Amino acid sequence: MFKEIYKKKKILITGNSGFKGSWLSIWLIKLGANIVGISKDIPTKPSIFEELKLENQIKYYKEDIRDLKKMNDIISNEKPDFIFHLAAQALVLKSYADPIETISSNVMGTANILESMKKLNNKCTAIIITSDKSYDNIEQASGYKEDDVLGGKDIYSGSKGAAELIIKSFYHSFIKSKNNNLRIAVARAGNVIGGGDWANDRVVVDCIKAWSEGKITEIRSPHATRPWQHVLEPLSGYLHLASELSLNYDLNGQAFNFGPNTKENPTVEQLIVDLSKYWNVEDKFRAYRITNNPIFHEAKLLKLNCDKAFSFLKWKANLDYEDTVKFTSEWYFDFYKKNKKILEKTLNQITEYENKAKAKSLKWTE
Ligand SMILES: NC(=O)c1ccc[n+]([C@@H]2O[C@H](COP(=O)([O-])OP(=O)(O)OC[C@H]3O[C@@H](n4cnc5c(N)ncnc54)[C@H](O)[C@@H]3O)[C@@H](O)[C@H]2O)c1
Repeated sequence: MFKEIYKKKKILITGNSGFKGSWLSIWLIKLGANIVGISKDIPTKPSIFEELKLENQIKYYKEDIRDLKKMNDIISNEKPDFIFHLAAQALVLKSYADPIETISSNVMGTANILESMKKLNNKCTAIIITSDKSYDNIEQASGYKEDDVLGGKDIYSGSKGAAELIIKSFYHSFIKSKNNNLRIAVARAGNVIGGGDWANDRVVVDCIKAWSEGKITEIRSPHATRPWQHVLEPLSGYLHLASELSLNYDLNGQAFNFGPNTKENPTVEQLIVDLSKYWNVEDKFRAYRITNNPIFHEAKLLKLNCDKAFSFLKWKANLDYEDTVKFTSEWYFDFYKKNKKILEKTLNQITEYENKAKAKSLKWTE
């Protein structure tokens, strides 16, 4: 698995207490890595970070990535072998409420991580996580490719596009040289679902919270499509990219999309109906109600082209849409309705994910 590259390695994860950061931490621990985390808070209640009791299993710095001195101190002391930079203000609606926090965390925070990394003398490979929303979304039906125009209409998307410009200039100014110990790549993934997300204003989370209390949920853009994928999909991409990048200079400075199979781009409404089946909400009119609440700009169509990840990395999505829905709904159902041990459930889902990938002989399982 990932050429066993993570065994006994020190991995720094920023945003370790968030949804993706927690899944990435637990997977890397399973792979034998030592985790150092930096994040400013535990962003939700409940939280997957707390449910998995990750604080006892890692070295955790509760710090803000906007504090350059702190980042310099932590990164130069820890000397990580790999960095996965996920820390960000990750919510579109919150970016309207607090644009400056979003821009400072997502742009300056990223610059601080790169600035601190550039002072390292040891070999270090970093994956900088941005978003599918980094692209200037012109609602095109064919998926965005890595060299399409960047920059978004809302503040969150704009901040991720701006971060990309900074990453590119850091790469060309300080990292590109072949004699350098440092390597970076950018990973862009789309809307991620899966157990343990409790962030506000995410449609799946809103539904699950409502159904767990026997309530109905409201949805805004039933016909919008998103590249829904289970959280383990982009994580397998990030882990595979970092492992390949550490061995192959040609991947240095490259950006990659990680998305679901292109044939699967269901609407919000379809996803909600499919998720609700696991909650015994037989009548769709009891599962959700469509509202016409005025909303800030929200893209209707968003699609990624992942051909580059396949041709350079032989990476492709592992789960089909039905499995994505099943993994997601079952995790939450166990949490809310069965009082099952969620650490065990999470590890079992990772094993099941790995086994499905092995059965398909996906490259990262080597
Ligand atoms: N969840 C998705 O659907 C999705 C889609 C595309 C891209 N992404 C990106 O993936 C990454 C992780 O997303 P997530 O869904 O896990 O987010 P999340 O909101 O669950 O977690 C965010 C994490 O970042 C930390 N953080 C935020 N601001 C910080 C700061 N200034 N200093 C230190 N820590 C800070 C939080 O404490 C938390 O650990 C983000 O970069 C996000 O933009 C997420």
